[in-house]
Amino acid sequence: MKNYIFRKAGIVGAGVMGSGIAQVFAQEGFLVILNDLDEDILNKAKERIKTNLFLLHEEGMLSGERLKKALQNLSFSSKLSRLKDVDIIIEAIPEKIELKRALFQKLDEMFSSEVILATNTSGISISLIASVTENPQRVIGMHWWNPPYIIPVVEVIKGEKTGTDIVEAVCQLVVKLNKKPVLVKKDIPGFLGNRMQYALMREAVHLLEENVASAEDIDTMVKAGFGFKFPVIGPLETIDMAGMDIFYNVSKYLYKELDASPQPQKLVEDKVDREKLGMKSGEGFYSYKSIDSLKLNQERVKKYVRLLKELGYCRQDKEV
Ligand SMILES: NC(=O)c1ccc[n+]([C@@H]2O[C@H](COP(=O)([O-])OP(=O)(O)OC[C@H]3O[C@@H](n4cnc5c(N)ncnc54)[C@H](O)[C@@H]3O)[C@@H](O)[C@H]2O)c1
Repeated sequence: MKNYIFRKAGIVGAGVMGSGIAQVFAQEGFLVILNDLDEDILNKAKERIKTNLFLLHEEGMLSGERLKKALQNLSFSSKLSRLKDVDIIIEAIPEKIELKRALFQKLDEMFSSEVILATNTSGISISLIASVTENPQRVIGMHWWNPPYIIPVVEVIKGEKTGTDIVEAVCQLVVKLNKKPVLVKKDIPGFLGNRMQYALMREAVHLLEENVASAEDIDTMVKAGFGFKFPVIGPLETIDMAGMDIFYNVSKYLYKELDASPQPQKLVEDKVDREKLGMKSGEGFYSYKSIDSLKLNQERVKKYVRLLKELGYCRQDKEV
């Protein structure tokens, strides 16, 4: 089996995800080059990364020394050819199949077959993306969660033709990045995380639509109820704790009551039609008109950092 060594990563797409992924590589000691269509976007990404690195520093998650090193590890270029000396390329461009396929075809032609090509797609088939390349064995899914510098898990998805040595190497890389890999053995829509997350969100929207409870109470039910347990035990561990017989008996009468809409609910469709898109447009299920969203997000990040520390997910530097 080939021994893959990762020294430098190339990230294509410097938006929310690409900049966060680049930050993780840099702060964990890897060289990284971030690529996007123009310098303006790259400058904004650079500022975003700096702000987040300083926030981690203030929160005691990153020493002054590591912060300095992280900034040195980062480089930026709007020229794809500058990625020539990387060991892995992670694509984080918009979720459009034709864009991703065109990019992978180009990456496959431009870079040696030794370079691993990963996609951060939220749900497009890895095998479909890989099918435009001459070397589909080096194409893999690497699905990070937002914000990438906070959420500990990375889904590693094996496409139909992904080499098993590449799957193994990428899982090991995720560990070196101080993240938790989960291996998705079948290239199915939504992979692991979004399938479970969307099952829950579909039911939450249904309960709201049926006026069973307010948006606040539905969210509180998860945050202060069963969701409170999830950082400690997962759903299958929950079943084992409660008892398989109890789960079986409840499933027999409850499954058929749960929402199984094959399409987004009318409530969601109406909100999209009326541009009630959530935080970014000032209103979704809640109103954000009199709320400083940036501040709200930073407060949330600080809470996540406290959780990460408490649950032992982050390396806490002594010198901060
Ligand atoms: N935002 C999330 O919460 C989230 C979570 C997990 C996965 N994802 C997935 O990650 C990917 C990126 O999402 P995002 O939210 O970061 O998007 P984004 O819109 O914030 O960023 C995409 C970036 O890609 C750039 N781009 C477009 N075409 C390019 C090209 N050919 N070459 C180089 N750069 C190009 C754009 O200029 C933009 O800066 C998507 O596939 C998305 O589904 C998103």
